[in-house]
Amino acid sequence: MRFVRWMTVMVVTAAIATGSHAVELPEQPILSGMEAFKPSGSAAEQMAQFTEVNVAGQTFTSAIQARISGSPANRWDVMLQAPLGEAVPPGATYLARFWVRAAEAMAESGMVGLAIELNRDPWTKLAEGQYNAPREWTLVQLPFQAKQAFDAGTVNVNLRLGYPSQTLEIGGFELVRLPDGTSPQSVARTANTYRGMEADAPWRAEAMERIDRIRKANLTVSVRDSAGKPVAGQAVRVRLTRHQFRFGSAVDGRLMLAETADAEQYRAVVESSFNTVVYENDLKWNLLEADPRRYDIVDQTLPWFAERNIDVRGHVLIWPAFRWLPPKVVALKDDPAALWAAVNEHVTALVTRYRGKLKEWDVLNEPFTNRDLENILGREAFVDWFKLARAADPEAKLFINDFGILASGNRIDTEHQKHYEELIEFLLSKGAPIDGIGMQGHFGSAVTDPPTMLAILDRFGRFGVPIRITELDANMLDPAIRASFLRDVFIVCFSHPSVDGVLQWGFWEGRHWLPDAALYTRTWDLRRNGQAWKSLMAEWTTDQIVVTGPDGSATIRGFLGDYAIEIAGVQQATLLPLAGGQFEFILDE
Ligand code: XIL
Repeated sequence: MRFVRWMTVMVVTAAIATGSHAVELPEQPILSGMEAFKPSGSAAEQMAQFTEVNVAGQTFTSAIQARISGSPANRWDVMLQAPLGEAVPPGATYLARFWVRAAEAMAESGMVGLAIELNRDPWTKLAEGQYNAPREWTLVQLPFQAKQAFDAGTVNVNLRLGYPSQTLEIGGFELVRLPDGTSPQSVARTANTYRGMEADAPWRAEAMERIDRIRKANLTVSVRDSAGKPVAGQAVRVRLTRHQFRFGSAVDGRLMLAETADAEQYRAVVESSFNTVVYENDLKWNLLEADPRRYDIVDQTLPWFAERNIDVRGHVLIWPAFRWLPPKVVALKDDPAALWAAVNEHVTALVTRYRGKLKEWDVLNEPFTNRDLENILGREAFVDWFKLARAADPEAKLFINDFGILASGNRIDTEHQKHYEELIEFLLSKGAPIDGIGMQGHFGSAVTDPPTMLAILDRFGRFGVPIRITELDANMLDPAIRASFLRDVFIVCFSHPSVDGVLQWGFWEGRHWLPDAALYTRTWDLRRNGQAWKSLMAEWTTDQIVVTGPDGSATIRGFLGDYAIEIAGVQQATLLPLAGGQFEFILDE
């Protein structure tokens, strides 16, 4: 099929439950039963009650019941803890296992964590996991190998219970040493799962339905000949060339310019996969100040992105802690007026420099944990920065950005989240022009399950300001969970009407702040998470050949965005975009 003419137009309308089975245990357990476990953690006393309960029909006859009320700040703030008496030799292999059920939970299941770690800073981990606790008794198994020696009496076994309101029962704990040479991989291991991970989870079907409703529209092409008569049987190819939704990544400016095979590959991925990018480090004030050549790097990379219709966002105008500010600015800390002026001047200068080139800016980054400037200048200063940025480039979309909002480890009322909500409210009330609410999305091993993510997005969606996932990475221990979770974050976000894009914080192991989380390995193999991402992107595209009916028209339902519409076997045709996703081809003689 030959396409003689095409034009780009805009569509304007727009269980893994446990998988565990018992293994033959060759030796006496080092720990057995719940007797050695005692309440521990900074919130154990205020937020938790512990009682012993009888259990029937299991291999153990009693369990500890822990009732957690409220929402502990950290999962380790409420624990059951048992010290390990004996020394751990390097290379020794163990199996930790226990039974758990949630008598009550705010969702279908509760959560429980297991961390076997050094009993003091730096809390070196021997093993760590986080598990669903469903209503019925469930066995959790965590085999592990000690990478280093630990002295007798320096290791704790911690059952972490500090998740929002739940009543858990735990029984039948055992820690056994496996024969030397046993590979931990040969022993059944409970997946670190999350609520809603199942393929048939209800939230997922609902999300897919919403995606079809809010991210797609009908597109009708009518073909007429030069006399205005409908042309039936005409093949037309309708192909999405750019999503309206932003799929993007952080990029490294220097690598974008490099002349290595890796850099070539890096650029190829950027070009084929993303419609939006953000400089990972190149525009940070302290780094610009330390090495002004970063300006040149940015200047030299911008045209490449522009030629490919890839939007570039700026990160970040102000990251308001001394550690992220240039020394010459920190030096002004005892002179608030001078500090105020220096910061304002930076905002204006940087936005002005890239006016029309950077489509978006993170104006304020991580205000919850970075308070040095707020302590000196007050919150009013934030309002000024937004206003100055707006004045310097009225077209640029201005964002506030923070972590721990979506990636909250399942919690919905952390101080971090409350602060963000309250700060956004304050800034909007003072007239700060905020065009986007950034949620970084650095997920560690504690994931936020999809239904909870949706609830968080609803909560922040009430501001009526678009939400952007600005720095996504899923860095769970288990590659299978990493893949499944990454896919689910995309489904959640693409399905939520308040979200306008998802940017990942890098994609290549060779340039990633958490190399394990990268989509591509150093040698450019796609990891499982990369495959999950790629297959979703393939699913969420539109490329169809349709044949016009007797009235000369054909309709498809496609993702919102820019399209190439091509018509086969015709020498000359003119494509006219009409209203409401309608297009007309007029065939010339
Ligand atoms: C990180 C970069 O990825 C690292 O290369 C750098 O060393 C430190 O900063 N939140 C942010 C980002 O807003 O700027 C941070 O980026 C990651 C956390």
